[in-house]
Amino acid sequence: MRRLRKRTLQPLFRETILQTTDLVAPLFIDEDATAKIPIGSMPGQYRYPPGEIALHVQSLYQAGIRAVLLFGIPSIKDEDASGAFARTGVVQNAVRSIKERVPGMTVITDLCACEYTSHGHCGIISHGRCGPDLDNDASLLLMDRIAVSHAEAGADIVAPSCMLDGMVHSIRTALDGSGYQDIAVMSYSTKFASALYGPFREAADSGYSFGDRSTYQMDPANAREAYLESELDAKEGADILMVKPAGNYLDVLSAICSIGLPVAAYQVSGEYSQIKAAAERGWINEKAVVLETLTCIKRAGATIIITYFALDAARWLTGNQEGPS
Ligand code: PBG
Ligand code: ZN
Repeated sequence: MRRLRKRTLQPLFRETILQTTDLVAPLFIDEDATAKIPIGSMPGQYRYPPGEIALHVQSLYQAGIRAVLLFGIPSIKDEDASGAFARTGVVQNAVRSIKERVPGMTVITDLCACEYTSHGHCGIISHGRCGPDLDNDASLLLMDRIAVSHAEAGADIVAPSCMLDGMVHSIRTALDGSGYQDIAVMSYSTKFASALYGPFREAADSGYSFGDRSTYQMDPANAREAYLESELDAKEGADILMVKPAGNYLDVLSAICSIGLPVAAYQVSGEYSQIKAAAERGWINEKAVVLETLTCIKRAGATIIITYFALDAARWLTGNQEGPS
């Protein structure tokens, strides 16, 4: 095997080439912020004020990034997440300002309620026989309203992350009914109840006040169910499927690729913070580890990769600027 491993021959036989256009940058917009706020558990990541987000997105565009995924942190949270579908909500305003300044950037909006509810769960809570829980069908109506409000603001793709049954069909119908047939749905179709979302909950202020998310997100132990979740969303009309987190679930990702739709992989906050923490201590080489993880996620079949390393990786891939080493 070593005949083809001579240094000069290696590029000819590399099977997977990571590109900047494979990457999607997740971004946090804080309605109350007046300057960018560092996120303690995610070194190098910030909550941006509404007035600065478009400028930041422009710098991502200049680095070669062609898609962003927006999360909003609203001033006010309530029981029914009214900030999530407000015409001038934090995400809706951000979409408009980004589209005005950087029209070539694809804007994807995370479609969920947990940043907007006072209890921190991903939709409407009702009190059933087993105690309080996420009310599936009441929450679908909420997702429909959020989806249409994001489309109205100018989002290209909406990305429901609530793991409700029937969410894709419901959102697709609502978008079509409001004249947004051309807005794509990227479903967080196979989303595990992962401990790796810990740093994100600080970043997005979306921790919950009771219970956990295991009555709607998936058990990390289940691969067959993981496939079925994505297959159902494909049948409901999803344009893009997703596996989240990425690194621990490459078997699942690889299986889901056989459905035939594009598949996004989300390298989540905990995956980011683990690499950052080890790199800060000098225990690993950050650039090498990041490029290895992203390449392996692509090798497993991902069409696009949502990663907090997007900007650093873009710089490393194009070699036009030194990032952290
Ligand atoms: C909200 C949402 C979460 C993430 C993306 N959207 C958190 C959660 O489900 O608790 C996690 C992203 C990350 O950890 O980077 N529905
Ligand atoms: Zn949520």
